[in-house]
Amino acid sequence: MFATTSTPLTKEPLPSENSRGSYWITTFGCQMNKADSERMAGILEEMGYLQAKAELEADLVLYNTCSIRDNAEQKVYSYLGRQALRKHLSPHLKLIVAGCVAQQEGEALLRRVPELDLVMGPQHANRLESLLTKVDTGQQVVATEEHYILEDLTTAKRDSKICGWVNVIYGCNERCTYCVVPSVRGKEQSRPPQAIRLEIEKLASIGYKEITLLGQNIDAYGRDLPGITKHGRRQNTLTDLLYYIHEIKGIERIRFATSHPRYFTTRLIEACSELPKVCEHFHIPFQSGDNDILKAMGRGYTIEKYKKIINKIREMIPNASISADVIVAFPGETNKQFKRTLAIIHEMGFDQVNTAAYSPRPNTPAAKWPNQLPEETKIERLKELNLLVELTAKNRNLRYKNKVEEVLAEGVNPKDSNQLMGRTRTNRLTFFPNKGPEGYCYRPGDLVKLLIQDVRSFSLSGRPLK
Ligand code: SAH
Ligand code: SF4
Ligand code: F3S
Repeated sequence: MFATTSTPLTKEPLPSENSRGSYWITTFGCQMNKADSERMAGILEEMGYLQAKAELEADLVLYNTCSIRDNAEQKVYSYLGRQALRKHLSPHLKLIVAGCVAQQEGEALLRRVPELDLVMGPQHANRLESLLTKVDTGQQVVATEEHYILEDLTTAKRDSKICGWVNVIYGCNERCTYCVVPSVRGKEQSRPPQAIRLEIEKLASIGYKEITLLGQNIDAYGRDLPGITKHGRRQNTLTDLLYYIHEIKGIERIRFATSHPRYFTTRLIEACSELPKVCEHFHIPFQSGDNDILKAMGRGYTIEKYKKIINKIREMIPNASISADVIVAFPGETNKQFKRTLAIIHEMGFDQVNTAAYSPRPNTPAAKWPNQLPEETKIERLKELNLLVELTAKNRNLRYKNKVEEVLAEGVNPKDSNQLMGRTRTNRLTFFPNKGPEGYCYRPGDLVKLLIQDVRSFSLSGRPLK
């Protein structure tokens, strides 16, 4: 579903009377967008739309967009150009831009692409049906006002039948000076724990084995919920939520992302070490290894505090894997400051690091600062960083060699149908033959004990032990 194709532009037939026609969704950006797309696909199917076989045949095309960096934003304009052309040949085509670029640009998008029918921000994802009803009356619709996110009554159409995303908190109240998310995703809104539990129970009842709790700043979960205090401590934190959902039968693994070092607690680490279903993987971006840059970024912690968190995790959960996000060439970053970022990666030995060169974003403070760095510096630093990240990941992966790891089979390896693929509890992608030594055939959804034989920078291979 989430891929593009290229077929020639020709005049197309109208959808038949008894169906709404077909839809196509392309998703850019983070897991939050993926989760929103799955919900919007569910809404469209309930309305009677069928999934199209190809993007250029669909009667409704929805781009769920990302604005985190300029290159992500530009991608959508090139996709839209093609669809706008098509709309002149097939006026019944419905063209929708959802997600973060929609929120950022609002009505300006209609001026840029007059062929659009609907521009809808991420807070409006669950309202897709009523927005389309308005479109049906012949209007061009823009839905970007601040909106309380309604509990979703429809069933998401999920890509995986094994692993499910579960939103727990929407939005972000931080003000990192480089980041567009707070302005496009709005204020934090936590879902009530009961609604989250109900959703997970439903997933478990239809065979899901793993869930990932999602939030841009997941440690903020519960701050906006009615306060219950017990023994002088606020209830309804992420830690409380983990305890609350842990016993759900059928769910074997629980993950969560993304953690913010500013709010990360020792209590959370304790819960992760105590609760058997919570996987030993932490995604905690640090963004820069230099305290002055962290300050300019408005991150609210020092690199010493960050290191303390990681050391505490390693002390309490020695096998844990740690991943992070890093930005290089932030305005004013000196070579010395950049080297501090490299030093942290060297010192902490991350399992994985998502890297990016700083990209100035609309409505963010850092974009207006005069000390922007030249493109060459961005490219050079990113290249140097990526080399180190790959090397570190490979070194970290060596610890898996000849070890037994439990992998949840998620699907068939698209490059070899005799192999399955899944992830270790520590989130390493792993491939293995679908037959065990006693001839047992493994299937997606199985938890398989593997002996890890091959170790690469970003994946592992092993063989089933029985
Ligand atoms: N909420 C998470 C991450 C949100 S966005 C957090 O607080 O860390 C995902 C990642 O994109 C960020 O961690 C950051 O590394 C990167 N990013 C965000 N804005 C960026 C920008 N303007 N330029 C380059 N990278 C950026
Ligand atoms: Fe962006 Fe900062 Fe919020 Fe993360 S915590 S989404 S980086 S503003
Ligand atoms: Fe992109 Fe929006 Fe996610 S900007 S990273 S899709 S929150």
